[in-house]
Amino acid sequence: MNKKRDSFSSRLGFVFAAAGSAVGLGNLWRFPYLAAKYGGGIFILIYLLLAVTFGFTLMITETGIGRATGLSAIGAFKKLDKRFRFTGYLACIVPFIITPYYCVIGGWVVKYLGAFLTGQVEAAASDNYFTGFIAQAAEPIVWFSLFIFLTAAVVIIGVQKGIEKASMILMPVLLILIIGISAFCITRPGAAEGVKYYLLPDIKHFSPTTLFAAMGQLFYSMSLAMGIMITYGSYMKKDGDLRRSVRQIEIFDTVIAILAGLMIVPSVFVFSGGSQEALSKGPSLMFITLPKVFESMSFGRIIGTAFFILVLFAAVTSSISLLETNVSIVCDQLHWNRKKATLIVTAYLLIVGSFISLGFGPLDFIKILGMGLLDFFDFISNSVLMPIVAILTCVSIGFFIGPKVIYDEVERSAPFKEKKFYTIMLKWIAPVCLVLILIFAVSEALGLIKV
Ligand code: PFF
Repeated sequence: MNKKRDSFSSRLGFVFAAAGSAVGLGNLWRFPYLAAKYGGGIFILIYLLLAVTFGFTLMITETGIGRATGLSAIGAFKKLDKRFRFTGYLACIVPFIITPYYCVIGGWVVKYLGAFLTGQVEAAASDNYFTGFIAQAAEPIVWFSLFIFLTAAVVIIGVQKGIEKASMILMPVLLILIIGISAFCITRPGAAEGVKYYLLPDIKHFSPTTLFAAMGQLFYSMSLAMGIMITYGSYMKKDGDLRRSVRQIEIFDTVIAILAGLMIVPSVFVFSGGSQEALSKGPSLMFITLPKVFESMSFGRIIGTAFFILVLFAAVTSSISLLETNVSIVCDQLHWNRKKATLIVTAYLLIVGSFISLGFGPLDFIKILGMGLLDFFDFISNSVLMPIVAILTCVSIGFFIGPKVIYDEVERSAPFKEKKFYTIMLKWIAPVCLVLILIFAVSEALGLIKV
């Protein structure tokens, strides 16, 4: 603990590392299917409003807590106010819930990469390919295990830095590819309707679930309310401009998510008609829609292969940061060495992830609160735990520890222009809205209300 903490060598180094963790399957896979399902343009509008208000407030607070204390979530809350130490523990549970199912989706990406590499483009684009695949017991687990081993190997061999460097080149390439693919998609006949649905907010499509979904997605995509940004902040240099870094990460993360949706949502209109049923496919949407897009383009096999390689890369950089987080929590709390902790966490992921994967096949009769296993894990982390952690973070800093810790961090390098707005958000608007959202989301899941 008294060893001097490494820090990012530059402010941009911090931005890239945090963006590498933030940009992942959340942007490419989760955002498009939520936007498709929960109203298109209205979902995006709400997401953007939440990003500049809640997202900004929470990200500044978390990175500020990390930089002020130089510690990860548990130590940081303990140092600031012992009474809130449990907030750190609660935050640490989240990555343990997310990582297993994140790796299951990672496994699906590996499977599609394999299909494109071996030229099975037509098969992959056919209607029942995806459902046939996930309904099996063994095959999805094989791909999922491969994804975990890939992640664990990077962590065990200790080449994360190399991977992060490579991702600085590959991320922009991914961005260019996404722009190219979305340009192709939105110029297909029939896409205009989809672009309209996706970009033009229509209040008709609003429901309270749109709001819960957008809020959960914001936390997930920006790696908030799970201690991650506290850890990243603790590695940030003292003289870096916190406010500007936070803005840049937010903008980068949001742009990638919106573009990913532009590639997927209009395509649902082109290839499957824009029926509510087609739009509500949920977690499978990207895997059902994109192969059809690639099949319909020239050089589709090559473009599809390149695309899945890059998605895999983005997924692996995020899963590395998730695994690292899990491992460092175990090392800190149980005082195990890194190797032992990595092996045990990997075993945990294999067991829980296999169980989640089987939830689409032999175990698909298991429904908790009407949800399948993956959706249930996703619900517990995104709709329950993260709002609770976010509420506790706002209340502890706003009322007990005092927002001065955060003001000081921001003002080290530049004036805090939104100080008033930030304080009102932190103390009042965010906690009150989050409590309401939490109550609604949980009551809805328990069937107490119908929204
Ligand atoms: N924010 C990542 C995504 O959008 O894919 C998910 C994630 C990665 C969360 C890494 C947490 C984390 F540590």
